[in-house]
Amino acid sequence: MRRSKISIIGAGNVGATTAHWCAASELGDIVLLDIPQTGDMPKGKALDLLEAGPIMKYDASILGTNSYADTEGSDVVVITAGIPRKPGMSRDDLLSTNAKIISSVAAEVAKTSPDAVVIVVSNPLDAMAQRALEITGFPRERVVGQAGVLDTARFSAFIAMELGVSIEDVSTMLLGGHGDTMVPLMSCSSVSGIPISQLIPEKRLAELVQRTRDGGAEIVSLLKTGSAWFAPSAATAAMVEAIVRDKRRLIPCAAYCEKEYGVGGYFVGVPVVLGDGGIRKIVELNISSEEKQMFEASVAAVKKLVAKMHELLG
Ligand code: NAI
Ligand code: 2OP
Repeated sequence: MRRSKISIIGAGNVGATTAHWCAASELGDIVLLDIPQTGDMPKGKALDLLEAGPIMKYDASILGTNSYADTEGSDVVVITAGIPRKPGMSRDDLLSTNAKIISSVAAEVAKTSPDAVVIVVSNPLDAMAQRALEITGFPRERVVGQAGVLDTARFSAFIAMELGVSIEDVSTMLLGGHGDTMVPLMSCSSVSGIPISQLIPEKRLAELVQRTRDGGAEIVSLLKTGSAWFAPSAATAAMVEAIVRDKRRLIPCAAYCEKEYGVGGYFVGVPVVLGDGGIRKIVELNISSEEKQMFEASVAAVKKLVAKMHELLG
């Protein structure tokens, strides 16, 4: 059977660690690309990862490069290129720089891997996914943003810590943009099927939700030099796996919603079925009026950001 080809654009913290998780799970052959200004850095990281194979017992070809020719015909392209935030910066502060970077990356991807599913990771996520869709011209099923898998993982981790239970039994779901306006869904969050509201008092749950919303900033303030990468790259690799193994996972991703949830043509976090070919379905949930209100605020924030991006790009 032919192995999947997975190209990762941006060989920094998130990109290189996504390559690591993908190699460890033998998801396919990997190409790690960064700009020529980084010289042989992607080659060095790729070779180092390849040399870990005999120890960790994974088979994968791992190539580092500065040339899109090496990414040709990829099945999945992960975009992590761009700058991360530093303390005091919001994801939105990255808008201007990263919008230009994503525009050039997406144009190269469209030329070299016209049939790929593109997973966008760079921030501000929902706007960068929109840009990737605009520039590649791919059908909306084949452009998806990573945010919800990370945000639910953070929420689940905090719940497991709070209750002193295994993370294996915790399941959470959320909607909305990646950031302060995300909407955790209590009605869809449980521990072994027990609704979360029966296990954690409302006031404490609200604190855990806030910690989840601030999850990215919490890591930035601890690291001081950049943003999180272990959990973000694990989340990204889980999405790669869903696609290359056609797992049809029902997980929250940033998807281009038209009629769905009444969004009208923007990327926003929603539950999707992710498998071969990308997004196979957007799942519409009945949400409470309070959740609907929060979701609409989240969509409004995404729309504002996209408008600002278009204004900046001219
Ligand atoms: P990093 O600085 O470690 O790596 C970024 C890499 O992108 C650098 O190696 C840089 O040389 C490369 N790059 C810049 N311009 C490029 C171009 N035109 N083509 C190819 N590569 C290019 O940053 P890190 O920590 O890996 O974060 C990457 C991005 O992912 C940031 O925008 C960050 O905010 C975002 N992020 C998003 C998350 C999410 O949940 N959606 C979670 C964590 C990070
Ligand atoms: C995070 O949530 C920075 O978006 C990144 O960690």
